[in-house]
Amino acid sequence: MHWRLPSANDGHPPRPSGARRAVLPAAAMLLAATLWGAKVKPSAPAPIVPATVDKPAEYAGSETCQMCHEDIFNAFRKNPHHEVETNKKYKFDTKACESCHGPGSKHAESTSAADIRNPAKLKPADADRACLGCHLNRPTQVGRINGSHAKNEVACVSCHSVHKNGPNGLVARKAAEVNQLCAGCHTDVWASFQQPFRHRLPEGAMSCVDCHNPHGSFLAHNVQTAQANEPGCFKCHGDKAGPFPFEHAPVRLDGCAACHLPHGSSNPRMLTRSDVRFVCMECHSNLPTPTAAANPALGSVPPAFHDLRAPQFRECTTCHQKVHGSYVDRGLLR
Ligand code: HEC
Ligand code: HEC
Ligand code: HEC
Ligand code: HEC
Ligand code: HEC
Ligand code: HEC
Ligand code: HEC
Ligand code: HEC
Ligand code: HEC
Ligand code: HEC
Repeated sequence: MHWRLPSANDGHPPRPSGARRAVLPAAAMLLAATLWGAKVKPSAPAPIVPATVDKPAEYAGSETCQMCHEDIFNAFRKNPHHEVETNKKYKFDTKACESCHGPGSKHAESTSAADIRNPAKLKPADADRACLGCHLNRPTQVGRINGSHAKNEVACVSCHSVHKNGPNGLVARKAAEVNQLCAGCHTDVWASFQQPFRHRLPEGAMSCVDCHNPHGSFLAHNVQTAQANEPGCFKCHGDKAGPFPFEHAPVRLDGCAACHLPHGSSNPRMLTRSDVRFVCMECHSNLPTPTAAANPALGSVPPAFHDLRAPQFRECTTCHQKVHGSYVDRGLLR
């Protein structure tokens, strides 16, 4: 194969348990790949055939599957993948079932589960391969290899159920449905959204994918990007994007999470500290600390007239109002 996904580390994410597929001997794999390449585009998924059969299975066509899997066959007419059944472009016209399940002639004879590929029972990397054969070069998947879902073996089929078109269908679209999907595994993150100061996810007004790309991204933590690969926060908080003649260094260099807890906080404005001044003084103070020499103040030290014993100096942002950057004032006062 000309592309590769991170290798396996079995059993980490929650997913349907099941038998591991037999692995083809290298020679048979090479042969299969060669035959395959001659017939279809190289990006099409490779057939996976159990090692136990002597003769490789052949394509049987969707109508063969229909004989025994009538319900799935009928429901499939409404599936977005029905496009594969009818459009010659994908090289699986009249045999769309086998684009994901591999050649099915053996299984159609034996009816044994061992003779057919079930993506939900494959190792995540192999399951993804079945999907990426068609979906790799699409914009949503661009960061996939880098994304921590791929690295941690959360397969396409953990989030997209092909036949079980339950309330969410193939793709969770409504904010509340996306949140439910993500919260199912990220319970700790969901707990953060129960705090008093947070975005309105529990109300279904926003979802995880407003800020994260579930398929991965070039930014750390799968953070969604807006225009020019900037953090997705700017999609809604464009006024914080600048460019400002007088920047506040951490806004651009450390990112919003230097001062805000994006999943919610018990502090107003979702700040990392209970009082604004404590947020500021983490970087703007010359208080002696045990590590002072190695770790001096990160920002400048406020001039001496800042008498922190006087109450009026405790709320730094009453004077330094443009804490995200200023168009006119070096001191971020206006
Ligand atoms: C003659 C009947 C018959 C035909 C034809 C047939 N199947 Fe099946 N299929 C079955 C039966 C029975 C099972 C349940 C096997 C089991 O659970 O042991 C099954 C199970 C499956 C499974 C689940 C395997 C698993 O790991 O749980 C898949 C996927 C599947 N079939 C796909 C197909 C496809 C694709 C075709 C067409 C190429 C097809 N079947 C044609 C009878 C058939
Ligand atoms: C886009 C890929 C894809 C296509 C096309 C596809 N399947 Fe599946 N199939 C899956 C996946 C993934 C599963 C595992 C369960 C799930 O995610 O819904 C599955 C599971 C199954 C099962 C096991 C029963 C179950 O619900 O778990 C059967 C039987 C089956 N498919 C038959 C078919 C038939 C028949 C067709 C054609 C009409 C077909 N599949 C087309 C991906 C596909
Ligand atoms: C043979 C090619 C092919 C394979 C293999 C394939 N897909 Fe698709 N997929 C398509 C096509 C074609 C569409 C519909 C048109 C489009 O989105 O461009 C589609 C659409 C989708 C959609 C979007 C549906 C929507 O409502 O927008 C999802 C999600 C998806 N596929 C997931 C999967 C998963 C998961 C697998 C692996 C189990 C898979 N696909 C395997 C060709 C394929
Ligand atoms: C962690 C969960 C998760 C995983 C893993 C995942 N997806 Fe998705 N996918 C989603 C969500 C959520 C959406 C809807 C995104 C949105 O509305 O912005 C989506 C949307 C899509 C779409 C529709 C594209 C669009 O922009 O409308 C396709 C196609 C798709 N996924 C394919 C895949 C394939 C192929 C894989 C595996 C390589 C995969 N997904 C893995 C959660 C996931
Ligand atoms: C308002 C934007 C936003 C929303 C909404 C959001 N996140 Fe995040 N998330 C972030 C940012 C920014 C980071 C990186 C924080 C950092 O750099 O320390 C992050 C980090 C993470 C991390 C890794 C670090 C950690 O805290 O565990 C996970 C996992 C995560 N988010 C999952 C989710 C899930 C699941 C949801 C939905 C329930 C969600 N996020 C909603 C912005 C958001
Ligand atoms: C099947 C379980 C599962 C589902 C569903 C799931 N995730 Fe994850 N996610 C994981 C695992 C496992 C990791 C890697 C370990 C970790 O960082 O927690 C991860 C990692 C992440 C990270 C990156 C953490 C980092 O520090 O890099 C983000 C962000 C994230 N998931 C967001 C989401 C979003 C958004 C959704 C819903 C669309 C979602 N996840 C659905 C299991 C899941
Ligand atoms: C250096 C610390 C710091 C950084 C970095 C920072 N903020 Fe803030 N932010 C604050 C403080 C302090 C407040 C509260 C201001 C007040 O009390 O009036 C605030 C308030 C806000 C508010 C609510 C009030 C308003 O002005 O709209 C939003 C929205 C906001 N920040 C978004 C962001 C975004 C988006 C980023 C990243 C681009 C970011 N912040 C980076 C310190 C910071
Ligand atoms: C989809 C749009 C959207 C995105 C993306 C978004 N926000 Fe917000 N944000 C809002 C809205 C709307 C509010 C208004 C408060 C509410 O929802 O109750 C808000 C409020 C805030 C507040 C102020 C809360 C208060 O108490 O006044 C902060 C701070 C904030 N967002 C930071 C961020 C950060 C940091 C990011 C990126 C990690 C981000 N937002 C991404 C829509 C968004
Ligand atoms: C993560 C560290 C960090 C935090 C938190 C932080 N700052 Fe800064 N701040 C900096 C750095 C670094 C500079 C640039 C210092 C320089 O250029 O010497 C700066 C510059 C400034 C300046 C401009 C003065 C100058 O020297 O150019 C002011 C005023 C300021 N910060 C106020 C605040 C206030 C008020 C807060 C709290 C809301 C705050 N800062 C929080 C790191 C931080
Ligand atoms: C009563 C108004 C006021 C309050 C409250 C205030 N400052 Fe200032 N601060 C100023 C003024 C005025 C300057 C001088 C700005 C200049 O020279 O342009 C200044 C300067 C600074 C500077 C250095 C700027 C430079 O250009 O070198 C820093 C850093 C700073 N303040 C941080 C803080 C912090 C942290 C707090 C909260 C603990 C705070 N300030 C509270 C009015 C205030």
